[in-house]
Amino acid sequence: MARTALITGASSGIGREIAKNLYSRGFRCILCARREDRLTQLAQELGENTRVVVCDVSQKQGCYDLYEQVKDENIGVLINAAGFGLFGKFTETELERELAMIDTNITAVHILTKLFLKDFTAKNRGYIMNVASSAGLMEGGPYMSTYYASKAYVTDLTCAVARELEEMGSNVHICALCPGPVDTEFNDVAGTKFGVKAITAKYCSDVAVKGMFAKQTVIVPSLTMKLAAGASKLVPRKMLVAMTGRIQSKKGDA
Ligand SMILES: NC(=O)c1ccc[n+]([C@@H]2O[C@H](COP(=O)([O-])OP(=O)(O)OC[C@H]3O[C@@H](n4cnc5c(N)ncnc54)[C@H](OP(=O)(O)O)[C@@H]3O)[C@@H](O)[C@H]2O)c1
Repeated sequence: MARTALITGASSGIGREIAKNLYSRGFRCILCARREDRLTQLAQELGENTRVVVCDVSQKQGCYDLYEQVKDENIGVLINAAGFGLFGKFTETELERELAMIDTNITAVHILTKLFLKDFTAKNRGYIMNVASSAGLMEGGPYMSTYYASKAYVTDLTCAVARELEEMGSNVHICALCPGPVDTEFNDVAGTKFGVKAITAKYCSDVAVKGMFAKQTVIVPSLTMKLAAGASKLVPRKMLVAMTGRIQSKKGDA
């Protein structure tokens, strides 16, 4: 039986490219997102054995239903790529949109990680990749405050669980993908633009999948972001947040 990968956020950008990469490595893919037409088109590109599950992961019940629908499918890889951002001053951004972001970027990742990790640890095999962001390494991002905070949650949770698995001597691997700017539909959804050159979703995904199978815990795909993340550890938090805010504030004229 082919190994199976479940990919949320597979209708676009990084999730879509990760699905293509895993398929090329011999994985059967289960594609999840809300836009069925996009998923069906990708499934046709990949091959007959690919399955589509339409799901809104911002709904807790959606996550539970997704798990129930696929749990007997010999899932060996879970990619939590569904997510989005929102640009703007915290005093001005829409609360409901931010709560939906927290549900998608945090709660869904938490639920799916928990449910699949239990199965994976019982079998002592499996890989989970949580798509966080270099935003999650920066200790706060003015003008995208909720987004940065959501990605810090994902990065911190993933690193802590990775340590627990290591101490258990488990074969299960969990990692956080922390890219900087990637050319996807992210900016259109977030209402922003990038201040530095973006990498392609394909490049990001190729580095991510390679890093996951090499059992890296935090994967930062580009050298520029690796340097930025490293340098950020040398700067006091207040100064770092101010610097990030200056960069972020220029991104508003999308
Ligand atoms: N692009 C960047 O610069 C960048 C950098 C660092 C991290 N990231 C992270 O990478 C991940 C993927 O983003 P992307 O850049 O590839 O953006 P994208 O092209 O906009 O793709 C986002 C994906 O998430 C799915 N999604 C959003 N809300 C969903 C929901 N409620 N239920 C199910 N699926 C949902 C979308 O599918 P539907 O709309 O069809 O549901 C789409 O497939 C996100 O977590 C993002 O935060 C992106």
